[in-house]
Amino acid sequence: MIEKRRSRIQGWGVFAIQPIPKNTRIVHYAGEKIPNKESLKREVRYLKKGHIWCFKLNRLYVRDAAVGGNVARYINHSCAPNCYTRVVGDTIWIIAARSIRKGEELTYDYSTDGEGSIQCRCRPGCKTLI
Ligand SMILES: C[S@@+](CC[C@H](N)C(=O)[O-])C[C@H]1O[C@@H](n2cnc3c(N)ncnc32)[C@H](O)[C@@H]1O
Ligand SMILES: [Zn+2]
Repeated sequence: MIEKRRSRIQGWGVFAIQPIPKNTRIVHYAGEKIPNKESLKREVRYLKKGHIWCFKLNRLYVRDAAVGGNVARYINHSCAPNCYTRVVGDTIWIIAARSIRKGEELTYDYSTDGEGSIQCRCRPGCKTLI
C-alpha cells in the first residue's frame, strides 16, 4: 500500500502506491518502548542532528523509531495532513484522515509542543516550528 521515496518536504517520505480509503489503518509506528524520562535524553541527542524519532504513547511511555523502527519513521509532518494517529494500547496507528490518491505523500501532524527547532516545510511560507 505504501513505499518510501524522496520527499519534497524533507529527505525521505512515505507515499501511497495505491488509493487508500478514508479511515484505513495504514501502518503502525514501530520503535522501542521506553520511559518518558529516557526519551527526553534521547530527544536532545536526536534534535542536535535535526531528527525527531520519539513518538509519545501516553503519559509514561514513548516509542523511539530510531531503535527498531519501520517505514512509518519516514512519514513527514504536515500542518494540513492526510493522516492522523491513534494510540490503541501499546500501538500507534497511522490512519487515513480522508481518501488518499495513489502517489500522494502521507503526512500527519506531529503535534510537537510548539517549542520545536525545525522549520516546517509542508508548504511554501509555512511558519510553524516542529
Ligand atoms: C520521522 S522523520 C521523517 C523522515 C525524514 N524525512 C527522513 O528522511 O529521515 C522526522 C524528521 O523529518 C523532517 N521533517 C518531517 N516533516 C517535516 C516538515 N514538515 N518540514 C521540515 N522537516 C520535516 C525533520 O528533520 C524531522 O526531524
Ligand atoms: Zn507546516
